[in-house]
Amino acid sequence: MGFADNNRLLNVFDLRTSFSADSFALHAVDNISFYIKKGEIYGLVGESGCGKTITALSIMKLVPPPGEIVGGHIFFEDRDLATLSDRDMEKIRGDRIGMVFQEPMTSLNPVLRVGEQIEETLVAHKNISKEESKSRSIELLRQVGFDKTEKKYLQYPHQLSGGQRQRILIAIAVSCNPSLVIADEPTTALDVATENKILSLLKELVSGYGMSMLFITHNLNIIKRLGQRIGIMYAGRILEQNIVDDFFNEPLHPYSKGLLASIFGIKGNEKRLKAIPGSVPRLSELPTGCKFHPRCSFAMPLCREEEPPIREIGNEKWVRCFLYQN
Ligand SMILES: Nc1ncnc2c1ncn2[C@@H]1O[C@H](COP(=O)(O)OP(=O)(O)OP(=O)(O)O)[C@@H](O)[C@H]1O
Ligand SMILES: [Mg+2]
Repeated sequence: MGFADNNRLLNVFDLRTSFSADSFALHAVDNISFYIKKGEIYGLVGESGCGKTITALSIMKLVPPPGEIVGGHIFFEDRDLATLSDRDMEKIRGDRIGMVFQEPMTSLNPVLRVGEQIEETLVAHKNISKEESKSRSIELLRQVGFDKTEKKYLQYPHQLSGGQRQRILIAIAVSCNPSLVIADEPTTALDVATENKILSLLKELVSGYGMSMLFITHNLNIIKRLGQRIGIMYAGRILEQNIVDDFFNEPLHPYSKGLLASIFGIKGNEKRLKAIPGSVPRLSELPTGCKFHPRCSFAMPLCREEEPPIREIGNEKWVRCFLYQN
């Protein structure tokens, strides 16, 4: 835990983020642990409502009240973000950690020229002159794939397509040369051709800048193409942690097998798990034991009673499932 491994840029340990009501608390993120190595893309995958965005917002310390981090650590570079003040966190956000979220139109200021919006982030974090920030903005516009950069600099968000707006947000996210970028469903609102271009751009930037990326998606195909390691989330937990290539060859958790079968079909004579029966439980109605057991065709009596602990399967692989407990 902590900073023991220099190769780990981000080390989330037992993170719990809850929304509290009068008499009870709903744990949107429930004791999750994962790390991201320097220079890698880590995919966090799961169905809608499983806690992906709340995980991202927890790392940024932007969870909307009454949500709050109630336990665990978020080691990043040399600090624990979980205990950092708002003031210190503001310095890290946009500078050491860049963010790209889903809806381009809601994230850009409609009355500011896009060039100025890139500059705003630069000026907030870097001690640079107006001229320097302008030339850096133009350079960033070029890096995210625009050619008429001087013209683009002067445009307003409504003059751009969805894909172009997302490029601007990516330029802002990488403007200060962050070590980590958090991308939460950054291509969901885009058509497939534009999505492909944006994914290629992100991949290029990650290797060009030597950054790490937390890539959040419900689309396993994207992680297959982009990521090195993957975490499978369900009902606020991470059920499986794996290396991307191994995951697609041999997923560990029954939930992962179901997810893969529902998109890629079944290999060999594995038991058919059609598009996983049932639906994701609400946080207020979570089952006892393993949160996936009501939908699991391998469920045993023990799965109803106890929540499976983490079982290490190999280097950088683990699973929370009693099928692997002996
Ligand atoms: N402001 C809030 N108040 C109460 N509960 C919330 C709030 N925001 C999120 N939640 C709950 O936290 C859980 C996780 O939500 P989250 O947005 O992280 O899911 P997600 O995995 O990002 O889903 P999606 O794929 O739809 O974006 C959900 O059960 C959601 O209902
Ligand atoms: Mg989300």
